[in-house]
Amino acid sequence: MAAQTILFDFTLDKDKTADEEGRQQVAKILRNELEHLFPQLELAYSMESPENGYFAVLHENKDTVVTCRIFQHGLLTLNVEYFLPDGKEPIISFDDLLQTGRSLESGLAIKLKAKKAQKLPTLKRGDVSRYFPASDERIIEYDIDKVVFEARSPFQKIQIMHSKTLGNMLLLDELQNIAESDLIYTETLMCRGVENYEGKEICILGGGDGALLYELLKENPKHVVMLEIDELVMQTCNKYLNVICGDVLEKRKTDQYEIIVGDCVEYLKKFIAEGRKFDYVFGDLTDIPITDAPEGETWDFIRTIFEHSFKVLKADGKYLTHGNGSTCKVQLRLFEEQLDLLRPKVKFTTTKAFVPSFMEEWLFYQVTFA
Ligand SMILES: C[S@@+](CC[C@H](N)C(=O)[O-])C[C@H]1O[C@@H](n2cnc3c(N)ncnc32)[C@H](O)[C@@H]1O
Repeated sequence: MAAQTILFDFTLDKDKTADEEGRQQVAKILRNELEHLFPQLELAYSMESPENGYFAVLHENKDTVVTCRIFQHGLLTLNVEYFLPDGKEPIISFDDLLQTGRSLESGLAIKLKAKKAQKLPTLKRGDVSRYFPASDERIIEYDIDKVVFEARSPFQKIQIMHSKTLGNMLLLDELQNIAESDLIYTETLMCRGVENYEGKEICILGGGDGALLYELLKENPKHVVMLEIDELVMQTCNKYLNVICGDVLEKRKTDQYEIIVGDCVEYLKKFIAEGRKFDYVFGDLTDIPITDAPEGETWDFIRTIFEHSFKVLKADGKYLTHGNGSTCKVQLRLFEEQLDLLRPKVKFTTTKAFVPSFMEEWLFYQVTFA
């Protein structure tokens, strides 16, 4: 069951909507068009303001509500909304909509000389969320057919959604983290086939989905320690994401690895004090890592993580992490600026991969002492 929201927009000549008289004229023509297409529609409310243009609400037997705005800048928007119970056919079929869109487009184009008209894809709003943002905040619609698990830990909202093509997906605070389809994410992060992990000491910051730990253990490292703050993320992934984490989250300590539940910064400080060193440190944290540090910019906290990580790296060690979507030029520049601020100085290389569940290309960093 979901509310269906259908958005149309029309670009008109600016002169036609610049003043009240013009907008009233446009509104009249629009109403005539709507009455023709949806004979049951009644005008429930309308308002005209010099600053905000024209606004109207129309409804059809109180089922379908249409809101309309005519902006003074030459834009006319039309939002159609109705509720669709489970198993019911849409009141307005896709074909009807296209037809309606076309009719509106041609009707208005002829009568108002509309320069452009478009119908956006129908938004479905209800118990299953389907829309999540890409790294550059574009809206991505996933083919989610089931909410498998949903809970709030003391740190974040944890969801496992099932996508028809990507399998189970882990979302933290409504951001996509990893899915069953994403081996390429882990392999690109660890530079599989390029780095040699055999006999190496490794530290993972975050990584609660267990995928990185699972893949690293296949490469015979000497020991891996994973610092993950959220016990519930691990329990959830152990239950619903075995495809990518195997059974590594079953046990917290073996000869090959140890999972410590806590804030990675606190444990990094402890390792620094003990003089503990690693060949590799992985930053596999959420894009905005969890911190209870008072105030401060996210970038300051991310730099703190870098600084502490480099203090536990051997002289020839490597810090490997994900950056951001490759279209996020500003974020990537800020990320690289933080690396430039580090002392002793560091240098980096990057790799790229198209991550299926992100539906975009991501950049990964390999950082070493300069
Ligand atoms: C699930 S992993 C995966 C990251 C990922 N692939 C992505 O898209 O960002 C991220 C983990 O970082 C953990 N995390 C965030 N802040 C942390 C902190 N300060 N210390 C330890 N773990 C942290 C989260 O709990 C989460 O489980």
